[in-house]
Amino acid sequence: MPTEEEQHRLNAGLAEVPRHVAVIMDGNGRWAAQRGKPRTWGHQEGARAVRAVVTRARELGVPWLTLYAFSAQNWRRPADEINALMALLIEFCQKERQLMMDKDIRLRVIGQRDRIPAPARFAAETVERATRDNRAMTLQIALSYGGREELVSAARQLVADALAGRIDPEDVDESALSARLWTAGAPDPDLVIRTSGELRVSNFLLWQIAYAEFVVDPRLWPDFGAADLDEALRTFAARERRFGAVRAPVR
Ligand code: IPE
Ligand code: IPE
Ligand code: MG
Repeated sequence: MPTEEEQHRLNAGLAEVPRHVAVIMDGNGRWAAQRGKPRTWGHQEGARAVRAVVTRARELGVPWLTLYAFSAQNWRRPADEINALMALLIEFCQKERQLMMDKDIRLRVIGQRDRIPAPARFAAETVERATRDNRAMTLQIALSYGGREELVSAARQLVADALAGRIDPEDVDESALSARLWTAGAPDPDLVIRTSGELRVSNFLLWQIAYAEFVVDPRLWPDFGAADLDEALRTFAARERRFGAVRAPVR
């Protein structure tokens, strides 16, 4: 008998799913503008897409899902848009906490925690604590996240550790650096999905995506749903990853 997750994969035409899927959720503002509405309305509708994609990823048995919700550069946006996004984060944490408990999902925030306003940080950290022992899936939400900022923070820690004698500079290697990133302990993403058709990385997981496959979907984020995730995973399954070798490594 196939497990429930295997059954969902079979139905979706998927033999297997990536270990880590990372998503640049882009296009909320344009989605709203196309309908003559304020950008914040697009973010609200975007939150529904988040729910749909988290639920589907969990159903399919994807162990790691990272969602880019707010970049370190998004602080450049108008205050009312930032406030609306923080309010949506609080609402998401309150509304989805039970879903995460029921579905055995662990929440983890990655990014500049100290820049997140206290009420939003508190809401996220409350769910992080409540879900810390959940194991089926880790949902990483990137908040005030920037890949360069993360690398600078890791470099600072390495220097501090070296000066304090906790690490020999000769021992600084990829794993020493990885261990000091906000994503420490997470496998590197296998697949990055970006919606809204933009062909750029926008400071997302710069170190971690060294060998990730990219799927760019033309849909704006509020229009992205479970079936579109399935489609992206099928596209990924058809790719040949070589990691610099001549042929894909035998698994
Ligand atoms: C993505 O949608 C959500 C965030 C960056 C917070 P945007 O707000 O970037 O929407 P567009 O790209 O302007 O359409
Ligand atoms: C990337 O989208 C950040 C998030 C999706 C949170 P942006 O809309 O901020 O990226 P740019 O400005 O178009 O590169
Ligand atoms: Mg955008």
